[in-house]
Amino acid sequence: METRSLGHTSLLVTPLGLGLAALGRPGYITLGHDEDVGPVRDGAALEARSHEVLDAAWAAGVRYVDAARSYGKAEDFLASWLAARRVTPGELTVGSKWGYVYTANWRVDAEKHEVKDHSAANLRRQLAETRARIGAYLRLYQVHSATFESGVLEDADVLGALVRLREEGVEVGLTLSGPRQADVLRRALEVRADGRPVFGCVQATFNLLERSVGPALAEARAAGWGVLLKEGVANGRLTGRNHAPEVEALHTVANAHGVSPDALALAWVLSHPWVDTALSGAATVAQLRSNLSALTVPQDAVTDPRLLGMAQTPQAYWSVRAALPWR
Ligand SMILES: NC(=O)c1ccc[n+]([C@@H]2O[C@H](COP(=O)([O-])OP(=O)(O)OC[C@H]3O[C@@H](n4cnc5c(N)ncnc54)[C@H](OP(=O)(O)O)[C@@H]3O)[C@@H](O)[C@H]2O)c1
Repeated sequence: METRSLGHTSLLVTPLGLGLAALGRPGYITLGHDEDVGPVRDGAALEARSHEVLDAAWAAGVRYVDAARSYGKAEDFLASWLAARRVTPGELTVGSKWGYVYTANWRVDAEKHEVKDHSAANLRRQLAETRARIGAYLRLYQVHSATFESGVLEDADVLGALVRLREEGVEVGLTLSGPRQADVLRRALEVRADGRPVFGCVQATFNLLERSVGPALAEARAAGWGVLLKEGVANGRLTGRNHAPEVEALHTVANAHGVSPDALALAWVLSHPWVDTALSGAATVAQLRSNLSALTVPQDAVTDPRLLGMAQTPQAYWSVRAALPWR
């Protein structure tokens, strides 16, 4: 797989990266997560599955991996895989996130799976935890789901600590979620601490159903930021698992071209010139392979006008997203 720079940073990424949200813990919000994980959900079983998917991604040439403190044991599983496969820090770009604390205690029926904490104290705590696991590999540290409400873009302690992290050689980014992604991103583009820019990368939700952040992402890329995209298959809604009317056009076009719906959805995401990397959130090797076939989807499938009508309003999209149950 081709490698390319992540914006104007010195980091190298591949067009498709692997996200570990579905692999690090037994519970997640994607449509068929309970089925993917199966009945054996102990740490050793999930670690073995993570390693299988990481092996397949590595063999296919994927060289960007995305983790977070709140993805259960994702950073631990990544650390054990890196050690077992003797991957050296220069061979793979690893990004992670701070800002949510994992609280599910390995239970799928937990009342709260993750709790947001964007304080400077939590940044210090979670950065130390991340460094203890994958410190030698960590190249990008992101605020997990920055919003206006959390106050993180105005917290001088947090912003100062992030600028110092950047000076130490770790790139700093933020991830976005919710109907105001574009507004938060445009604010983040202006954020300075001690006169210096804080952020240089953004990870946002962008897919056939939710396109509203596109113009702001193009602005970020034009300003030299690295642009990473997540939820390219809308948490499983843009895959063969979903047959709701919202995805009828996707199935029609995918069938006409003999490609999988998830591959077409990801190929559409990757067709935007300002994207550096799009994440596969595969929970199994089969899903990963199907996602990776995005790289060979024919151009006329991606530009098929029938896909245009799939876009939803951000409010409609995020109200469905917010109601997805943990399973
Ligand atoms: N705020 C944030 O920072 C944030 C938020 C979300 C995600 N992320 C990052 O982005 C990555 C991807 O996000 P995501 O996993 O939430 O969303 P996604 O990539 O849109 O959805 C991935 C899910 O889609 C389903 N899927 C994929 N390929 C499939 C196939 N061929 N057939 C059937 N189902 C298929 C699987 O779920 P099922 O099998 O369960 O249906 C898979 O777990 C995460 O791993 C994480 O690294 C970051």
